[in-house]
Amino acid sequence: MTISTLRLGFMGFGESAELFATDLSRAGITYIAAYSPSGAKAKPGDPVCLRAQNAGVTLVKTPRALAKRADIIFALTQGKTALAAARKIVNSLEPHHIYIDGSTNSAAAMEKIAALIGNRAQFVDAAIMAPVAIARLKTPIVASGPRAGAFRDALAPFGMDIKVVSDAPGAASAMKLIRSVFMKGLAALLFESMEAAHRRGMLDVCAEDISATFDAIPFRRILKRYICSTPAHAARRVHEMKESLEMLQSIDSRDRMTRATAAFIKEFASSGLDKQFPKEADSVREVLDAWIAAKA
Ligand SMILES: NC(=O)c1ccc[n+]([C@@H]2O[C@H](COP(=O)([O-])OP(=O)(O)OC[C@H]3O[C@@H](n4cnc5c(N)ncnc54)[C@H](OP(=O)(O)O)[C@@H]3O)[C@@H](O)[C@H]2O)c1
Repeated sequence: MTISTLRLGFMGFGESAELFATDLSRAGITYIAAYSPSGAKAKPGDPVCLRAQNAGVTLVKTPRALAKRADIIFALTQGKTALAAARKIVNSLEPHHIYIDGSTNSAAAMEKIAALIGNRAQFVDAAIMAPVAIARLKTPIVASGPRAGAFRDALAPFGMDIKVVSDAPGAASAMKLIRSVFMKGLAALLFESMEAAHRRGMLDVCAEDISATFDAIPFRRILKRYICSTPAHAARRVHEMKESLEMLQSIDSRDRMTRATAAFIKEFASSGLDKQFPKEADSVREVLDAWIAAKA
């Protein structure tokens, strides 16, 4: 175990801060402080005090005290309170501080917090990519901002999984939301297709069929194939999606996602991109460039 002189602070002491602090103190960080509104008001023996004690954390009464006790400050507040939390501490920050905002927020919100922090301290946008209760300290975090590398270099040796993705604050949060577009969209699509399969008494066979397709091909190839084949095949798929939609409606199954797919395919088919890519395109980037240009 590395014993460290690193002085770490948490702005907010909820679920994620508690789990990270517990694991980081076990990994050797002995100076961990935290500020939260409820922690500031707590009396000895209150649940928040016991949580802090078990996590190896000293609760402080003010954001100013947190800034005095910590060089690296990891803000883990609810997304809607992140800016208010930053406003509370900004006047106590100094250039040596690294202020990392790990709240779930839009890129624009992170840019706003970065602008508020300005040159007072070094701002890092961090996006936590999975529930902390599952992988705890190993939960993947993506980070962006000019000093994101310093955040990674300070905490990765203690077991945190931090990937620097850009110099620009906002990029990490945008990446998380882009991931959500896919992950949550895929969940919604699975629900819609499996509801229909279940209504038709074909749940197992349909689930197995789709699973076998995804199991057989590495996902990187699926991603490329789905994007690169769309221009050439969109026109044909218009008819197929119309049939799919009618089938869902005939069994009274939900159809919101399929309506969106049918509209998307129709838009694609009328974009003229099939002339540019009569066969499967070579790269995802060239299809996306053409798709973006077609909208413009
Ligand atoms: N938990 C996860 O697994 C997970 C996963 C991915 C992303 N995230 C993101 O990480 C952030 C924190 O999540 P969490 O689950 O730890 O949230 P949480 O359990 O709700 O804790 C939030 C903490 O922020 C404190 N807080 C609220 N306003 C504050 C302010 N103005 N100044 C300082 N502290 C303030 C709260 O104080 P009180 O205790 O006094 O209310 C609380 O301690 C969220 O944005 C969440 O979306 C969490």
